[in-house]
Amino acid sequence: MFSVKDKRVLITGGASGIGLALVRHFQSAGATVAVIDLCSSEQLDATGAEVYLADVGDEAQLADAFGNAAADSPLDVVINNAGIALPEGRYEDADLSNLDKVLHVNVRGVYLGLKYAARYLRDGGAIINTASAAAHITFPEYSSYSVSKGGVLAMTRTAALQLGRRGIRVNAVSPGTVLTPMESSEGAEARISVQATALERPARVEDILGAYHFLAADESSYITGTEIRVDGGWIAGMTYNLMERALA
Ligand SMILES: NC(=O)c1ccc[n+]([C@@H]2O[C@H](COP(=O)([O-])OP(=O)(O)OC[C@H]3O[C@@H](n4cnc5c(N)ncnc54)[C@H](O)[C@@H]3O)[C@@H](O)[C@H]2O)c1
Repeated sequence: MFSVKDKRVLITGGASGIGLALVRHFQSAGATVAVIDLCSSEQLDATGAEVYLADVGDEAQLADAFGNAAADSPLDVVINNAGIALPEGRYEDADLSNLDKVLHVNVRGVYLGLKYAARYLRDGGAIINTASAAAHITFPEYSSYSVSKGGVLAMTRTAALQLGRRGIRVNAVSPGTVLTPMESSEGAEARISVQATALERPARVEDILGAYHFLAADESSYITGTEIRVDGGWIAGMTYNLMERALA
């Protein structure tokens, strides 16, 4: 059940955090893993995964990286996971350079990831995009991040429609706060997630791997164009912690 053994999996943003945990997870489950990232890391090198250096938002670089990763055999699974989060502040004095950077990686990067996944995936393959709970719950000064992750969900649905006739499924995983280099345990989001999630804690990377595994496995063969939220119950609604604080 739920085997990904012998699948060829390409993961973007595999040098750190969620991507690195996915590399290790899919390798331990018997898959062959290739990574596309801006740069490698000691931990990624230690996995022995193939690494192709590219900016996911740069079409020429990404095309080369996909071409090399799929040179010997077509891909079974592509995980468009590379992403960044930067605050751009309030609308009245927003830092538009941060808006441009976030959209470059999180929207253009995923768009291009879909374009080349469509070229290099075998029929019947799977694409999984890393979105975020922030597609649903916005933060006052991170507008571009929520815009970008809402865009990832929209692209997920569109790509599912385009690729369905080839049996390629396209889905998203939307994590809440996950402790990675992007989100430290001392950071604001980790502290907020204690109050704002039903489970009263941020996620460890191990908490979210199962959703990717399930969407990559053949047992999810009729699931496409949708999203699995792995958010500890953040989007479910008002927690006891928040109610108790508000009413104290
Ligand atoms: N950590 C969280 O709480 C959280 C929550 C929801 C969603 N996410 C999403 O999960 C994904 C991974 O985040 P993470 O927490 O592991 O972050 P991370 O910073 O630990 O890892 C991100 C990886 O993406 C790579 N990357 C960044 N820009 C790139 C580019 N232009 N081209 C190629 N690679 C690039 C980085 O080099 C890094 O290896 C992102 O899409 C992020 O938005 C994270």
